[in-house]
Amino acid sequence: MTPSPKLDSNRTSVLSTPQTKGQVIHTPRLYEFIVWVMARGKEQAFRKFIAKLAELKKGESVLDVGCGTGTMALLAKQYVGETGKSCGIEPSAEMVFFAKQKAKRQNALIDINPGVIEQIDYPSQSFDAILCLIVIHHMPDETKIQGIKEMARVLKPGGRLVIVDSNLQLLPSFEKEGFIQVKSGKAPFIPDYDFALWKKDNL
Ligand SMILES: C[S@@+](CC[C@H](N)C(=O)[O-])C[C@H]1O[C@@H](n2cnc3c(N)ncnc32)[C@H](O)[C@@H]1O
Repeated sequence: MTPSPKLDSNRTSVLSTPQTKGQVIHTPRLYEFIVWVMARGKEQAFRKFIAKLAELKKGESVLDVGCGTGTMALLAKQYVGETGKSCGIEPSAEMVFFAKQKAKRQNALIDINPGVIEQIDYPSQSFDAILCLIVIHHMPDETKIQGIKEMARVLKPGGRLVIVDSNLQLLPSFEKEGFIQVKSGKAPFIPDYDFALWKKDNL
């Protein structure tokens, strides 16, 4: 398991951030404000749609890749319950710190760690579901392809992957990694983005 992020006394400077070619966001408060504006106050409704789409159930394990301020991982915990596990990885130490503090205030046992999509620090076949929301477009194509490989690796056979992003059809590597698309469409409340639900082939 990766160590907690190190921050200076102002809790702003990054002393250890995992290496990535992705565009990392270091401003959690500003990010939450932008999401609120983008979703016109319907963020929770959007995230509930995602949790249902991912078919999250009690006792399951779920990973939110690029979890930002942890809002989705916190909601996912309500779906997987006490016996389930909700984890998030995120390269920004500021986001990790903010998400951990938010979880503490809510008395929620979620596991947020520094990490990147291109090298996910969990054993193969660890998760029943993976969420990756508005993250993929933050990186160059070779990183996207590596990220899809990594998500396929840590997902259990038959597991679900929910992606929300733009231009998802331009990413042919899902099928190559054994994913089968089950549903897709415009993301509710944030119509600039598309959603897709993939299942990892059991074979
Ligand atoms: C637009 S935010 C989305 C945050 C969160 N998924 C949500 O639903 O609010 C994109 C996030 O991806 C993170 N990110 C950038 N590069 C990444 C990488 N290589 N691996 C994982 N996350 C990354 C950014 O730091 C940022 O927090």
